[in-house]
Amino acid sequence: MRIDILTVVPDLLESPFNHSILQRAKDKGLVEINIHNIRDYSTKKHKNVDDYQYGGGAGMVLSIEPIAACIDSLMSQRKYDEVIYVTPDGEILNQGLCNQLALKGNIIILCGHYKGVDERVRELYITKEISIGTYVLSGGELAAAVLVDSVVRLLPGVLNDETSALTDSFQDNLLSPPVYTRPPEFRGMKVPDVLLSGDFNKINAYREEQAIQRTKERRPDLLDDFLNME
Ligand code: ADE
Repeated sequence: MRIDILTVVPDLLESPFNHSILQRAKDKGLVEINIHNIRDYSTKKHKNVDDYQYGGGAGMVLSIEPIAACIDSLMSQRKYDEVIYVTPDGEILNQGLCNQLALKGNIIILCGHYKGVDERVRELYITKEISIGTYVLSGGELAAAVLVDSVVRLLPGVLNDETSALTDSFQDNLLSPPVYTRPPEFRGMKVPDVLLSGDFNKINAYREEQAIQRTKERRPDLLDDFLNME
């Protein structure tokens, strides 16, 4: 998978992809992530990338020209499956959408800033608009980092234990059951006996029951989808 991210604050994306699972995915050649500074595509004297909004009002708007120049350049080199704009008014990201995106080959992610981007960018290029939640961030970079992390970890070969993405919270519309490690007892708090029993049928049954219980308590909205799947 190849991911090209367009931003006016590339420094914000310096670290998230250079550690842990994401770094390993890059090292294994499973994903290539390229960060593009929109400013590099500005033809203005002071490399401006934004301007006042027509009609007045507070806040600057990212101009179409440098974004178009960057996207056109990328599109002249290869085909893209999606051009995603991360924005608070997009479709809310969930595990199902992550699964869909993990099947794509090449994607572009555009990060907004200030008041957003000129609407014509959305009309001309954007195939999907994604929000990471019902709140407003200062810019799209952190949303892009969340999106990339949640998708790349699903690519085959990225996780060491192939089954572990399948048992994530949400993968089957259930939250994960509680997990424990050593010691078996801490300040009188004991690990449930069943987990020490070595009986995998019992352990699986316990985990499913706990997952359902936890989902019932914390996210009853998910439970309907799980019951419909069974
Ligand atoms: N940009 C600003 N807020 C955002 C959000 N909640 N999701 C995606 N992009 C954003």
